[in-house]
Amino acid sequence: MSARVPTGRRLPDGPGLRAGGHPRGTVRARTLAVVTVDNATAAVVPATRTKPQTATSVANTATEPTGGPPTADPLAWLADHARGREAAGLRRRLHPRPRTPAADGSRVRVDLAGNDYLGLGRHPAVVEGAARALREWGTGSTGSRLVTGTTALHGELEAALADHVGFAGALVFSSGYTANLGCLTGLAGPGDLIVSDALNHASIVDACRLSRARVAITPHGDVAAVTAALAAGGWRRALVVTESVFSADGDAAPLAELHATARAHGAVLVVDEAHGLGVVGPAGRGALAAAGLAGEPDVVATVTLSKALGGQGGAVLGTAAVRDHLIDTARAFIFDTGLAPASAGGALAALTHLRAHPELPAAVRRRADELAALTGAPRPAGAVVSVLLGEPEPAVAAAATCLAHGVAVGCFRPPTVPAGTSRLRLAARADLTDADLALATEAFAAAGVLASEVLTSEVLAAGVPVTEAVTR
Ligand SMILES: Cc1ncc(COP(=O)(O)O)c(C=O)c1O
Repeated sequence: MSARVPTGRRLPDGPGLRAGGHPRGTVRARTLAVVTVDNATAAVVPATRTKPQTATSVANTATEPTGGPPTADPLAWLADHARGREAAGLRRRLHPRPRTPAADGSRVRVDLAGNDYLGLGRHPAVVEGAARALREWGTGSTGSRLVTGTTALHGELEAALADHVGFAGALVFSSGYTANLGCLTGLAGPGDLIVSDALNHASIVDACRLSRARVAITPHGDVAAVTAALAAGGWRRALVVTESVFSADGDAAPLAELHATARAHGAVLVVDEAHGLGVVGPAGRGALAAAGLAGEPDVVATVTLSKALGGQGGAVLGTAAVRDHLIDTARAFIFDTGLAPASAGGALAALTHLRAHPELPAAVRRRADELAALTGAPRPAGAVVSVLLGEPEPAVAAAATCLAHGVAVGCFRPPTVPAGTSRLRLAARADLTDADLALATEAFAAAGVLASEVLTSEVLAAGVPVTEAVTR
């Protein structure tokens, strides 16, 4: 336990923590109410002397050639940078994914690393939906939907998504990442302002940069800073963009307040529901539906099909005019091969299953609450439980110990999260069993991330159900 951040699990607000990030890992934003990035000049205003601490910049301390005669190996610097990342505990390595837990001799018996929150990725009806589409349409979409045409399946999926999340229209993209790129670059450009939460996902960060709009990065969840950024004026049109349930921290955005200030200033609220769809709101309709904001004319949502729907792809939801505009202008839609038919078929089947089983979102949230109670993490808004450990090394060690005990967990380090906030990211699933939770408890105890020393394997061995034990 010694390597952990002091109790309370959530680090106190401070430089580089709640107000850091965007670009992920910026460590000085707290003294700046709002960091404004002018993408046209790549300047950060007001200027901060601290360079963003990303994996790249850590490695950039290696001697850099400044030009001169051609060298035999112009990519020799890659090895230097790799050593820099190694020394900082920031190397990333691909590892084999077992076909199923415990298959292929895998050590993984409980998967708390994936985002298949409802366990639908392998559901027979969902697999059959994908397989049917594959048989009917083949493996690919053969080109942009604007060039080679769109299938009835894509139309059906868009109609079902729009209906479920509560918007007039939806447009599917090949991923949640490209949905964010298409949405923000389609709705903002030079002369416009995007106000973006400091902890927004990399796909939003990249979309902001690509838009060529001015970007005001506001401290995490800080509605007053959003209001100040909008009130400062100097923009033609403005967007306020946030995740609904934050992908790394697992907390919720203050959507009602953000919408109120956006509306008061004539701005549009864009909400990434990647971790809201299928997990929060009535029947998993998302946080916007829960806040009564779905379908408002000044609200746009993005979703991914790769988390609660268990597949691959993304979508933007809004008015019919928003959909039409993106079809005409969103480069991530126009110049990208359409969502693969199997992905459309699988997502449609998953959504159909979710609508027939409105109890699933509550089941995943209950499991997430249990994981948070076990580890002393803050109560999550959705499926994501964030166990803060501080530096990369203890996070990597804790994740390795969990894996050695058969439990796969996410290990988030910079640049995914700000420096000093490396963590275990636990993703709950609706299909976790009590036995899974018992094994996870043993793994957490071995890794030193159990909230209470009372909760030992002896307690579990004595037959006390996990749910009872954690609430005592
Ligand atoms: C908040 C958020 N938005 C967008 C994405 C990108 O979605 P996809 O993986 O479907 O491209 C992710 C994925 O991690 C995410 O967490």
